[in-house]
Amino acid sequence: MATRKTLVLWQAILGALFATGCGAGMGSMPHGGDGGMGMSHDFGPAEPLIEPAPWPGSLDHPVAVDADPAPGVVAIDLTARAAEVEFLPGHPTTAWTFDGMVPGPTIEARVGDTLVVRFRNELSAPTSIHWHGLRVPNGMDGAAIHSRPVEPGETFEYRFPLLDAGTFWYHPHHRSNEEVGRGLYGVIVVRDPSAETIATRAEETLVLSDVRVDANTGQLASSSDTRAMMMGPEGNLLLVNGRPSNVEVAVRAGEARRWRVVNAATSRYFLLQQTGGTMVRIGGEQLLARPEPVGGGGLLLAPGMRADLLVWANAPGSTVVVRAAPYERAMGSGPSQAADLVRLVADATPAATPPDIPATLRSIPALGTPAATREVVLGETMMMMGGSSMMSFTINGRSFPDVPEVEPSAGSIEEWNLVNDTDMDHPFHLHGFSFQVAGSDEVRDTINVAAREQIRVRIDFDGRDGAKGEWLYHCHILEHAENGMTAVALVR
Ligand code: C2O
Ligand code: CU
Repeated sequence: MATRKTLVLWQAILGALFATGCGAGMGSMPHGGDGGMGMSHDFGPAEPLIEPAPWPGSLDHPVAVDADPAPGVVAIDLTARAAEVEFLPGHPTTAWTFDGMVPGPTIEARVGDTLVVRFRNELSAPTSIHWHGLRVPNGMDGAAIHSRPVEPGETFEYRFPLLDAGTFWYHPHHRSNEEVGRGLYGVIVVRDPSAETIATRAEETLVLSDVRVDANTGQLASSSDTRAMMMGPEGNLLLVNGRPSNVEVAVRAGEARRWRVVNAATSRYFLLQQTGGTMVRIGGEQLLARPEPVGGGGLLLAPGMRADLLVWANAPGSTVVVRAAPYERAMGSGPSQAADLVRLVADATPAATPPDIPATLRSIPALGTPAATREVVLGETMMMMGGSSMMSFTINGRSFPDVPEVEPSAGSIEEWNLVNDTDMDHPFHLHGFSFQVAGSDEVRDTINVAAREQIRVRIDFDGRDGAKGEWLYHCHILEHAENGMTAVALVR
């Protein structure tokens, strides 16, 4: 991968760094309070977005067919293969897909079901499926440390019980920056019928992502500028369910739609904001204890994060615009460009009564006293590689696979202090277990740690069957994960 062109670019970055007097060894600088004396990067401007005009359409997306008639078992066949898709209408391009589509089919099941996925790899490269956010048995986690990847032409059967209701997603964990970036991702909705009490007009999954395409040909193109290497590549076309953003959906005022939103982009942050209607967050990755109106500041979804929302238009004839608002995820990088994602256009029918959302959605017990406390420092450093210096991302000063393993006990609670020692945001994700952020009862598996921020999380290393083994934790900017910001928790 270290082509000549890449090295030249790195040298240009390093030149800029040394010119500011902030050179090597930043990963070991004391964190907190050094007021931006970290690496000041010259990220370069973001590429302008292609902004499609509003187009009438829908948010529908195919659901995977359950091939097993038995109740309590959802069995699906899923194939990874290259296929032609149209990110820009009328301009086919070859993407990597599950079952020929981007995103892959949505998997729907109920909590307590057993999910069986008969997976076949028809790509030209090895791959795997990771079940992001699901508490699967260790050997089913699809991360390369557990088992070798699924080679081209091979099959693998994933099989596990669905222990939690919520909005989850699936994606490869083998060269994930490249494979997810080419189109391999899909949603898993696990419902708890006893908790679904809010009347809605429709439930839809919204997979947000981006691709870089040639604006004339619609062909997928890659980006390898300094900004992409530091912040992870961002596309110039925002996608909602694999189609261009700015889809316009006809609705009736007052009728709520339930949106399960997933940020499946490899690097892009989506700061969701709406105008003209009402938006209430009832879940993130799993159902919240209490609903939260989404105010003017919006709702930030870092890569890997999800939201479970109720959205409706207030008045007949009005339009709700849901957009990606500008967000600056690295100091000095400049904010991302705003773009409209979805519009709900209410017809003239008198408004329906908006949904009656209970003040309490469920009760979530706080996690108990931690058996251990650890510090996880997200950093960056310079490395010498074949005579050239390279940027690499670190956890506690080391890059994967050289980060010492931590060893939590199955059945214990731990408190981890996530310390971001860099000038850019990093979304922290832990495989196989969920956590709560200090001061909140929300159940999560991914949390954004903003530049220079510290967040304390309590992790439930539950002792279920299959909990023991090696589990990854990493930054969900996949470029960072693949370039060192990954480590292992060995649960014993
Ligand atoms: Cu969604 Cu380790 O990843
Ligand atoms: Cu990161």
